[in-house]
Amino acid sequence: MTTENIVWITGASSGIGRELALLYATNSWQVYASARNADSLQALSIEATNLKGSIIAAPMDVTHPSDIQTFIDKRVETQTLPRLSILNAGYYEAIGLDELTMDNFNDTFAVNFFGVARALTALLPHYKKTKNGHVAIVSSVAGYTGLPKAASYGSSKAALIHLCESIKVECNAAGIMLSMVNPGFVRTPLTDKNDFTMPFIIEPDDAARRIKIGLDKKRFDINFPKRFSLILKTLRLLPYPLYFKLTSRL
Ligand SMILES: NC(=O)c1ccc[n+]([C@@H]2O[C@H](COP(=O)([O-])OP(=O)(O)OC[C@H]3O[C@@H](n4cnc5c(N)ncnc54)[C@H](OP(=O)(O)O)[C@@H]3O)[C@@H](O)[C@H]2O)c1
Repeated sequence: MTTENIVWITGASSGIGRELALLYATNSWQVYASARNADSLQALSIEATNLKGSIIAAPMDVTHPSDIQTFIDKRVETQTLPRLSILNAGYYEAIGLDELTMDNFNDTFAVNFFGVARALTALLPHYKKTKNGHVAIVSSVAGYTGLPKAASYGSSKAALIHLCESIKVECNAAGIMLSMVNPGFVRTPLTDKNDFTMPFIIEPDDAARRIKIGLDKKRFDINFPKRFSLILKTLRLLPYPLYFKLTSRL
């Protein structure tokens, strides 16, 4: 049994996930907030004390196979399986060709792709039974097309987009709602380390609001800001000589 108005958010200790947790709690939801930093999650839980809903700290490392399974098993056992799961935890480093290492690929894919895949496969058997579960996978517009310095991050996000497109039809048939969330630049600790101008950047509370609107409307494709995602979607349709001429200026 899933429980209405229970949401699980991974990557909730900072940035977009933190704002999503506060927004859902403001709207009377019971939020299970996950990330590795247990102190930040505890502080978030206290911050939500006066909101209509609540935030429960559920610390975990999404790269540890047993953490996610233990969390889901506990929710099933206590009949608190979230109806909505927002798989948002992410890792990013801008890496040029000289710094490209296997460690970077491993670290990036461990969180961004396998962390999501692990949560998804743990949830699916239960959501197949309940037929009202909703999974939201946070990818990025960086997954639309290969951009400079994003070889590992961009390819992990492209893999998530591919994953969502692959399972969407079967999710529909199984009664599982699936949403793919592709934000542009959002001002968070993840992008604070960027030393370049980030076009169309928005604040994390704005990103959370846009994501919740999309999820409330049960949209599959939630992307923003529209102008930026349109530019990147158009870029990938260009012939390569023109494409590389433009991306070499980034
Ligand atoms: N900011 C942007 O411009 C932007 C654009 C497009 C997409 N996104 C995506 O949006 C999502 C949220 O990013 P953000 O910008 O809000 O970044 P952020 O503030 O750095 O948040 C990342 C979150 O992921 C958690 N996390 C990282 N590794 C983890 C692990 N192994 N296990 C569990 N949690 C882990 C972090 O918490 P702990 O360190 O406490 O574990 C943190 O809560 C990411 O998937 C990111 O790729 C961001």
